[in-house]
Amino acid sequence: MVDMELKLLYEGKTKRVYSKTPELLVLEFKDDVTAMDGLVKKTMPGKGAINAKLSAYLFKHIEKHGIETHLVEYNGDRFLTVRRLEMLPIEVIARNYAYGSLLKRMPLYKKMQELNPPLVEFHYKDDSLHDPLITPEDITYTGLLTSGELRWLIETTIKINNVLSELFSGAGLKLVDLKVEYGRDRNGRLILGDELTGDSIRVLDDKGNHLDKEVFRRTGDIEALRTAYIELCNRLGVDVGDVVHG
Ligand SMILES: Nc1ncnc2c1ncn2[C@@H]1O[C@H](COP(=O)(O)OP(=O)(O)OP(=O)(O)O)[C@@H](O)[C@H]1O
Ligand SMILES: [Mg+2]
Repeated sequence: MVDMELKLLYEGKTKRVYSKTPELLVLEFKDDVTAMDGLVKKTMPGKGAINAKLSAYLFKHIEKHGIETHLVEYNGDRFLTVRRLEMLPIEVIARNYAYGSLLKRMPLYKKMQELNPPLVEFHYKDDSLHDPLITPEDITYTGLLTSGELRWLIETTIKINNVLSELFSGAGLKLVDLKVEYGRDRNGRLILGDELTGDSIRVLDDKGNHLDKEVFRRTGDIEALRTAYIELCNRLGVDVGDVVHG
C-alpha cells in the first residue's frame, strides 16, 4: 500500500501523480474510463488496479528485453512507484494494422491492412487541439528532440512494439497498435514512461474481439469493458483476481 500523505502533483484523466521523493513519483491509476478527449467519462470499479498491475507486468517484460522504463515497483492495488521524468508533450504510436484515427486521417488505407514494417506516428499532446498528428521535423525544429534522439525514439518504439507483438502472439492475441510516452530523467536521458494498458494498446483475440478500450469507445458498456480487460490479463497470465473488487 501507499502512504496517501504523499503530495498530489497532477491529476490527469486516468491517473493521479504524487511526489514521493525528489527522484520518485507514485502513479495512482483511477477507475475512470474516458473517450473523445475526455468528453465521455464513466467509472469502472477495479479498472485502476487492473491497469496498474498489467502496466507493471508489461514494463517488467520489456525491461527483460533491454528497454529501460520508469517502473521502480508495483505497490499493489492501483499504485506504481516510478522514476520522476519530465514528460515530452508527444505520444508515439506504432501501428501493425491500419485502424482508428489512421483510417479517418487517410481513408485510402483498408481497415486492418497490415503495416509491415510498422508505421510510427507522432501526436502533439493537447486535448483542445485533439492531439494532432505532427511530423518528425516539427519535433526537431521546435527543439523537443535532437535528430539523434528522434532516431532513438523511433527505434525504441519499434522494439517495444516487436517485443509486445511477440508476447501477445504467444498468447493467441494480435497487437494492432500501441501508444507510448517518453520523458527525460534529471540527466536529460530519455526513458519510457506513462502506462501500457488496454487504454493505450489495441489488441484482438483469435476471434477478432477487442480486449482493449475500443469496447468502451464503441458501446460505452462498462461491464463489457471489464470482461475484456480481465480476459486480456488472463491471457497474459497476469492474475487480477486479487485486485478486482465488485
Ligand atoms: N514517470 C513519469 N514522470 C512524470 N510524469 C509522468 C510519468 N509517467 C507519466 N506521467 C504523466 O502523468 C500524467 C498521467 O495522467 P493521465 O494519463 O491521466 O494523463 P492525461 O494527460 O490526462 O491523459 P492523456 O495523457 O491520456 O491524454 C500524464 O501527463 C503523463 O504524461
Ligand atoms: Mg494519459
